Amino acid sequence: MSLSLSPSPARLFSLLCACTDSQIEHCIDSKMAKTRLAWLLTLLSTQCYLSVLAVVLKTNNASPWTKEFDKVELSCEIESISTINPRIEWKKITSGGPSYVYFDKKISGGLENRAVIREPATLLITNATRSDTAKYRCEVTAADDHKSFDEIVIDLVVRVKPVVPKCSVPKSVPFGKSAELSCVEEEGFPKSQYQWFKNMEEIPDDPKTSVKFFNSSYTLSTETGTLKFISVRKEDAGEYYCRAKNDAGQAQCAPQKMEVYDIDIVGIILGVLVVVVVLLCITVGICCAYKQGYFSSQKQTGNNYKVPAKGDGVDYVRTEDEGDFRHKSSFVI
Ligand SMILES: *[C@@H]1O[C@H](CO)[C@@H](O)[C@H](O)[C@H]1NC(C)=O
Ligand SMILES: *[C@@H]1O[C@H](CO)[C@@H](O)[C@H](O)[C@H]1NC(C)=O
Repeated sequence: MSLSLSPSPARLFSLLCACTDSQIEHCIDSKMAKTRLAWLLTLLSTQCYLSVLAVVLKTNNASPWTKEFDKVELSCEIESISTINPRIEWKKITSGGPSYVYFDKKISGGLENRAVIREPATLLITNATRSDTAKYRCEVTAADDHKSFDEIVIDLVVRVKPVVPKCSVPKSVPFGKSAELSCVEEEGFPKSQYQWFKNMEEIPDDPKTSVKFFNSSYTLSTETGTLKFISVRKEDAGEYYCRAKNDAGQAQCAPQKMEVYDIDIVGIILGVLVVVVVLLCITVGICCAYKQGYFSSQKQTGNNYKVPAKGDGVDYVRTEDEGDFRHKSSFVI
């Protein structure tokens, strides 16, 4: 059975005879070689006998995968064994070292109630979780076999669907400026890859590969989910959304609008000019009004209105002049 593992008899023979392959026939003819051949046959039969008394494991899948909450089989088959009641153990190997999963005919550790052993040694996980992703080692000890121990390592991956990614799209970007759209999803396993869509259409990784996006200045990273515009064009405005994707599934965020507005230099200068002109007109208007005496004449009329009463008193006190006094008093009377 495991004869195939040993060197071929012819090769062994040539080694024993210390002659090259082309000399083998000649070797066989020599008497000395015949005794060596006898020895070789004994050696081969011993090897054969030993391999019968060896525990040998095999698996039908050394790297199985499943989706989270599904079942999965960690296959460990005993190909050859002579011992009636071998000791079977499973260990989970993580960065923290190995820990028991199956020991003393019982499932233990994190897999308790979630796994069973299917005779003789296959481990069946009935409800896989993301934390089950690890290497598992099936170890069989057969005390009565000459080669009494064998082990096999199974690399299990539990795939986890991505959740809805967190997307960030700037609401409005000035024309010609840079812009960055980001997309992050951290639950998925294996790690999510990202796609961006604009107005429901997938954005190619390289704008130069598409007529539609040819003049756009973006770079897109499917690994990090970042869509970066070096210089935004009017045509880059639109509704953007991102999709996170892995072997287990995909999820996407809701579309968000990005607007591109013009910083219109001419418009701004015109606007400032209009404001300055209006302010100038107002200032000039006020100055003219002062110069024309519009404000001062108003004051004078105010004074004139008050003066007569005072003037009356002053005149009254000041004048001994009869005419004036009389005139005044007569006026008062
Ligand atoms: C698997 O486990 C999850 C939680 O760990 C539980 O919500 C789910 O119902 C289980 N599924 C089955 C089929 O037992
Ligand atoms: C890209 O720009 C060039 C030159 O500016 C122009 O001729 C061409 O039509 C543009 N292509 C698209 C798809 O907008």
